[in-house]
Amino acid sequence: MESLQIMISRADSSTLEEILSLLNTVDLPPDGVAEYIDGFLIARDETGSLVGCAGMEQHGELGLLRSVAVTPELQRSGLGTRLTEAILQYATQQGISEVLLLTTTARDFFEQKFGFAVAVRKDHDDRLKQSPEWRLPRCSSAVLMKVNIQPQTHEIER
Ligand SMILES: CC(C)(COP(=O)(O)OP(=O)(O)OC[C@H]1O[C@@H](n2cnc3c(N)ncnc32)[C@H](O)[C@@H]1OP(=O)(O)O)[C@@H](O)C(=O)NCCC(=O)NCCS
Repeated sequence: MESLQIMISRADSSTLEEILSLLNTVDLPPDGVAEYIDGFLIARDETGSLVGCAGMEQHGELGLLRSVAVTPELQRSGLGTRLTEAILQYATQQGISEVLLLTTTARDFFEQKFGFAVAVRKDHDDRLKQSPEWRLPRCSSAVLMKVNIQPQTHEIER
């Protein structure tokens, strides 16, 4: 798997349908992706196929990390880690200092690899009430996780 040639780049509206197709494959919600497409990164393999994505909804200094997805054939190959590192780096460049995410399936991934810790949802309702993902009924049962990052350095604060 180490020899896979994967290119990570910024998404734009021309990649929307491919992103939505991948999210559908891994059963993640499409809501709000079009609105926040400028905050998405995509990964392509050497054939040009879209094999991963990750999105950051920016709400001031708060970021909502969402849609971290890797095509099933390439899961557990390190690509999810690369994409998450890249999107957190992007967040620091945007001046984001606090990153939240909602997950029902990958709590351990974000906790163990990136230092996210479980947070209290109602503490963030006011700042995220505009987010389409935040308002989804299916996300109401998801675990909320949070990590602080330092703009430009990507160091994790616990
Ligand atoms: C979660 C996801 C993005 C991880 O990407 P990946 O490329 O498979 O993960 P990586 O290969 O970079 O990392 C693998 C490591 O994470 C762990 N891991 C991967 N997916 C995990 C999950 N769902 N839960 C817990 N741990 C997970 C593996 O055990 C492995 O640990 P190790 O390195 O100690 O062996 C990917 O599995 C995926 O697309 N899942 C479906 C969509 C999803 O649930 N996304 C998260 C919601 S925001």
